[in-house]
Amino acid sequence: MPVDAERLSASTRQASWVRRLPKAEVHLHLEGCVPPAAVGLDDPARAGVTFDPGTGAPRFRDLAEFLGFLDRACALVTEGTQLEHIAYEITRRAASNGVGHTDVIFNPTHWPAWRTDLDGFVERLDHGFEAGEADHGVTTALCLSLTRTQPAADSAALVDWLLEARPDRVVGLSVDGNEAAAGRTGQRFAPLFTRARSAGLHTCAHAGESSGPEGVRDAVELLHVERVDHGIRAVEDPALVAKLAAEAVPLDVCPTSNVRLGVVSSLAAHPVEQLRAAGVRVSLNTDDPLLFGSSVVGEYVQCARTFGWDRSILGAVARVSIESSFATRERRRELLCDLDDHLGLAR
Ligand code: ADE
Ligand code: ZN
Repeated sequence: MPVDAERLSASTRQASWVRRLPKAEVHLHLEGCVPPAAVGLDDPARAGVTFDPGTGAPRFRDLAEFLGFLDRACALVTEGTQLEHIAYEITRRAASNGVGHTDVIFNPTHWPAWRTDLDGFVERLDHGFEAGEADHGVTTALCLSLTRTQPAADSAALVDWLLEARPDRVVGLSVDGNEAAAGRTGQRFAPLFTRARSAGLHTCAHAGESSGPEGVRDAVELLHVERVDHGIRAVEDPALVAKLAAEAVPLDVCPTSNVRLGVVSSLAAHPVEQLRAAGVRVSLNTDDPLLFGSSVVGEYVQCARTFGWDRSILGAVARVSIESSFATRERRRELLCDLDDHLGLAR
């Protein structure tokens, strides 16, 4: 076989193995699953951003411009059927990437049409996820996310709603948005995370994306999160890296997102390998797949190619994704059994 064809078939085999690798996705924003074309934002004049002529994907200068785009896109989702469709499609894409469980972050501040009907918002998503689970066998949990830059009273009102309504589908509390614009907010959010944890909710927080290592430290030491979303700038503080490794705090890393938003200059320059090699538990995720053109399989395959990851490393990353997910204990056990089968390991 010619060398090029041989290389192609090896990479096809690799992608097929990765697709079948049982895994979870634990860092996925509902806001990044609104198809731009479905809300008319595939038109540059309306979208307010440029588009890549090659891939047709929108381009963002930075996180601030990206978050503004999310506001515009989500404001155009006014019908329950749109939410059902978005939720269903999340499960369909998950299944086609071999993802058996997804934790989906939703941030009500991006969705003005639903601000006074959060119960209805979650109910419509729930319908879509239920139909998707029936058709594709993918389980889904929701995490309500606060915004770093929002007034304290608004975040408190969202936590009040969550603890009163307590929809079954919502199992966690999170915080996202622009830490660079908000400054250091760990102290402000800490009481809300304590309330959520006391009520039996899971917790995670964006940190170390638009903030430096101090943001990651605050997420761990002040918010006491189970998982850090991104967390990659922890790499700038060796003592913090050692702490994350020693305390087994998982980072849900989104390499393509970090490249697309200019957090790192290229995948080759991404610190995920340095963190992993230092013993930090990392999973791979898409963040906002319909805006970055990312897929879970793509993240695994590109990291394998860039960092020389073999199957045992890819299997370990998949294991972190399942173990750090907010799926029920029974579902995590099922997926871990599937993973061991795939890797040829006896339980
Ligand atoms: N919301 C959606 N994607 C995000 C990201 N990458 N960082 C912060 N907030 C977000
Ligand atoms: Zn994110």
